[in-house]
Amino acid sequence: MNIILLGAPGAGKGTQAEVICDRLNIPAISTGNIIREALKSGTEMGQKAKSFMDAGALVPDEVVIGIIKERLALSDCENGFILDGFPRTIPQAEALDSMGVKIDKVISIEVSDDKIIKRMSGRRVCEKCGASYHLEYKAPTQEGTCDKCAGTLIQRKDDHPDTVKARLDVFHTETEPLKSYYEKQGKLSLVEGQEKVEDTTALLLKQLEA
Ligand code: AP5
Repeated sequence: MNIILLGAPGAGKGTQAEVICDRLNIPAISTGNIIREALKSGTEMGQKAKSFMDAGALVPDEVVIGIIKERLALSDCENGFILDGFPRTIPQAEALDSMGVKIDKVISIEVSDDKIIKRMSGRRVCEKCGASYHLEYKAPTQEGTCDKCAGTLIQRKDDHPDTVKARLDVFHTETEPLKSYYEKQGKLSLVEGQEKVEDTTALLLKQLEA
């Protein structure tokens, strides 16, 4: 099954993508994670993306479309995939369609802006493996240390409150119109983000089985 997870920054796309990819045994592809990896390895693309990302702006369409084209061509996508954070603009969705990529389901995780701001200020990510935690909702066993690889937990630069507000503005203007784009294609389902991660997962899986 080919799935797109839509939602505001911090709505829980990454958290849910990680759970569903294990359940369905298909890869979760996060353009945000791919760009952060490129940045860490100091590639030209990473350098180009840095200023956009740090300001909470979108990286130019042609860059992310190129990334997705390369990633979807890998053999692990043959039996399906979950896209987390792509598409984020109408031209990106159109590019996916024109590549001939068939999308089965699009699920939008709905969370209010107020809740997002609270969630983002508590998010911590592992500097080494990228695993995501929350100081209140998903605390690591040992403060400041990743449960998976013992790496150091840090706050993402773009998780500072002012940048989160900028990212939410971009989401409402650039990404939210994708809901009607996919609704017209009869592929969209909405899932109300719950307080507990597992409750959101249960609603999401129900939609995927429908
Ligand atoms: P990206 O990394 O994709 O960031 P994002 O979409 O802004 O999403 P996040 O990773 O911040 O949030 P999420 O929804 O995955 O939430 P999470 O599960 O972590 O992109 C970063 C940047 O890269 C962009 O700003 C842009 O510059 C660039 N970029 C990427 N893709 C692009 C594209 N296609 N086009 C152009 N530019 C692109 O959850 C958040 C927190 O909440 C966590 O701490 C988590 O533990 C907690 N949480 C999760 N679920 C719950 C719950 N149910 N209850 C309580 N807490 C919860």
